[in-house]
Amino acid sequence: MFPQATGPAVSLSSMHGVSLRLGLPLSSHPSFSSPSSSSVTSFGDKKRGYGFVVSASTETSLAQTGVIFKPFEEVKKEDFMIPISRQISLARQRYQDECEAAINEQINVEYNVSYVYHAMYAYFDRDNVALKGLAKFFKESSDEEREHAEKFMKYQNIRGGRVKLHSILATLSEFEHAEKGDALYAMELALSLEKLTNEKLLSLHGVAAQNNDPQMTEFIEREFLAEQVEAIKKIADFVTQLRLVGKGHGVWHFDQKLLHEGDGVF
Ligand SMILES: [Fe+2]
Repeated sequence: MFPQATGPAVSLSSMHGVSLRLGLPLSSHPSFSSPSSSSVTSFGDKKRGYGFVVSASTETSLAQTGVIFKPFEEVKKEDFMIPISRQISLARQRYQDECEAAINEQINVEYNVSYVYHAMYAYFDRDNVALKGLAKFFKESSDEEREHAEKFMKYQNIRGGRVKLHSILATLSEFEHAEKGDALYAMELALSLEKLTNEKLLSLHGVAAQNNDPQMTEFIEREFLAEQVEAIKKIADFVTQLRLVGKGHGVWHFDQKLLHEGDGVF
């Protein structure tokens, strides 16, 4: 299939019913040379007319070191075959289906939380609600959750999985509560959502651990877990402060601080 004379390559057997091949432009690579070189390692099925030859070292260096260097011996293994089909990721390696599905579920979680925060932003931005600080806070929170979804999307593609977006659930559009008022009610809901998100992240981490995927567990830890507990603490503080100030003027004051002084003052 790939005559040695026109570019050494290895044609490999099928994997998952898809024809695969490994083609290496050996002739142009300084690590490879023709069989006339002084020291060569060859493999592949020469009886079938293909195979490739690796020049690992010269006879002189071999004699000096006693080391036989066979850099591409291992690539003959099925694990390292490179798919031809455009339907299959070339990069995917040791990425289990269960991990791929769990990442897609987490993308959905992040989008749903973003959607709820977006609804809160729209509510507090109304002229007859007019709590601009809370509107700003929930707008930023919505954007942040969407960024989280996108971060998981990017990760899915890095690992050779496929992003599948699921349905987003309809959310509340009214946040008024007779006893708590709207600000406290919305903030308590936000705290519950952040805790739920944390549960989902920990479950995702568990899936990665069960599938022996240390790169994925490290990614979740590095990018999400620390930030998530910090978000829970911040919103828990807000809930406590809103409980202290009650409704009316206290909420207005809380909102003004949120609007003008940023998160750092809390
Ligand atoms: Fe998030």
